[in-house]
Amino acid sequence: MGSIVILDHNMINMIAAGEVIERPASVVKELMENSIDAGAGKIAVTIEDGGRKLISVTDDGCGMDAEDLSYAFEPHTTSKIKTERDLQNISTLGFRGEALASIASVAQIKAISRRRNSTGGNCIEIDCGTQTNITPCSTDYGTTIQVRDLFYKLPARRKFLRTANTEMGHITEHFTRIALANCHLAFTLIHNGKEIYRLLANETLSNRIAELFSSEIFENLIETESDEKALQIFALMGKPRISRTNNKLQYVFLNGRFIRDKFISHAIREAYRTTLESNRYPVVFLFIKMPCDQYDVNVHPTKIEVRFYNANLVHSQILGCLREKLLATDLHVDAKLPSTTDPAQAERSQKITDAMAEFFKKHRPMQTHQQQLGFRSAPRQSRSVGAVSAPTMVKTATNVIQIHDSFIVAQTDDGFIIIDQHALHERIMYEDLSRRIHSGNLESQRLLIPESFELTESQAETIKNNTELFEKFGIELIPFGPKAMSVQAFPTLLVKAEPLGFVQDLIDLLTEKGSSLDAKSLLDEVLNMAACRAAIKAGQKLSISEMEKLLADRETIEASGRCPHGRPTTIKFSLSELEKQFKRT
Ligand SMILES: Nc1ncnc2c1ncn2[C@@H]1O[C@H](COP(=O)(O)OP(=O)(O)OP(=O)(O)O)[C@@H](O)[C@H]1O
Ligand SMILES: [Mg+2]
Repeated sequence: MGSIVILDHNMINMIAAGEVIERPASVVKELMENSIDAGAGKIAVTIEDGGRKLISVTDDGCGMDAEDLSYAFEPHTTSKIKTERDLQNISTLGFRGEALASIASVAQIKAISRRRNSTGGNCIEIDCGTQTNITPCSTDYGTTIQVRDLFYKLPARRKFLRTANTEMGHITEHFTRIALANCHLAFTLIHNGKEIYRLLANETLSNRIAELFSSEIFENLIETESDEKALQIFALMGKPRISRTNNKLQYVFLNGRFIRDKFISHAIREAYRTTLESNRYPVVFLFIKMPCDQYDVNVHPTKIEVRFYNANLVHSQILGCLREKLLATDLHVDAKLPSTTDPAQAERSQKITDAMAEFFKKHRPMQTHQQQLGFRSAPRQSRSVGAVSAPTMVKTATNVIQIHDSFIVAQTDDGFIIIDQHALHERIMYEDLSRRIHSGNLESQRLLIPESFELTESQAETIKNNTELFEKFGIELIPFGPKAMSVQAFPTLLVKAEPLGFVQDLIDLLTEKGSSLDAKSLLDEVLNMAACRAAIKAGQKLSISEMEKLLADRETIEASGRCPHGRPTTIKFSLSELEKQFKRT
């Protein structure tokens, strides 16, 4: 006799549940998605003990009649698709017809539902796959599904559940994703009798973000959108200053479905390139709308991944939309002076404001009361600036000083800015170098006295493998004896860098990173290094005209608020903040 048996239907469901229902949060997600598909206007989620004891979701959606209610918990039963063609054009969140069957096979369920136009409702109970008869009951229209004692007959699965707090963290995350994608709906989340969220219907996205996250995030978002090639993009992008150490605050929605997609993550990373340090992740809320037949959602049991038919288009549209907006935005960091009553902090804050007041007093002619403070009517000296006009444009050079030979302080229309001279110059050099490299326009000059250096076998190999890159940079190297090279020509723009040291470090960089990076990223690394070497250093005294030149250049480049490593170049102090500190308001 053969050993193969056909598994019974409850076993099949339990196995499916293994894929779909990982923990209480998966149940919450599936039930909330069903409520949304049912056209609910209000969804209430009640949890006890992190979802181990109870998960209950109530909605005011279309409801189910007695027949549908008994079918809903059977495997492969759905009202959302019928034919193969429907499968290629899925506009609902669910379609697999297995979520309720999976949940019902691993917990105790009570479901109550009433159709909008019926006078009464129906109730059904299921204990780990075993259904009771349907009984009529009186209830509001809509559906309530209560899931108790998840995995109670599966001790091995139950053992994997974490503390109530951890499970609640996962539940909140799924609730947040669904609430973000559906600002037109009202939601509540209650845990152990305590209300965690009460979100009203028809909120703006930014208000919803403020409620679900923090006012800091809400205050640091940049809005952008595009609508091209049948792809609509809307995004609220976090400014670099609120970046994170992981990508958990990157929320991507495709036609209302939260997804994770490596092409999109890459596009986001690229969009923020050079505005963030490499180990930081931006906060992004990204909403994509496109025809449902342009991607396949039937590739993952929890539907968190999709397959785009034209992933390159999605990538380039997102990258273009986000990056364009970022580069056009003033990303200077606003200084927040402490408003605390902590005496030590207050003293520090007082010192800063005193120093600034002193600075303005020295650099402003004594005039009216307002003007005595040097705030409002700075002498305007017309200056021709480049195409990009930063909102904090420095209108005059008379109110500029250098402090500690490292920072430049300059007055602006609505306050003042402090610039890190090295970081800003590094950004300027980076932009200039990359523009010239890309247009093949980087001048180099012959060294009066060529400098030679010894090199190892692998360094010689590196030079050979990167001849094109050396040429692009206008660095000419020729053999000088059997084991040495000499630097004959060097880029004019890098005059501040010492040629020999630069070339040796460049070879080291290429040896170390040449094999792991693609050509574009490698060139970027080299540009970064060159910009850093060529830039004015901290501790270097600058003349007024050098500072003026830096400030003028700053206004002609994009992304001047960050150095190429993503650190801020400029901190902005607003007049209103100063006035607050001086208790003038
Ligand atoms: N809250 C609800 N209100 C009205 N009908 C519901 C509700 N929840 C489930 N249903 C009905 O029960 C059916 C089965 O739900 P289930 O979640 O198992 O499958 P699905 O949503 O169709 O697909 P998926 O498995 O991908 O979620 C649904 O297709 C829907 O008709
Ligand atoms: Mg479903």
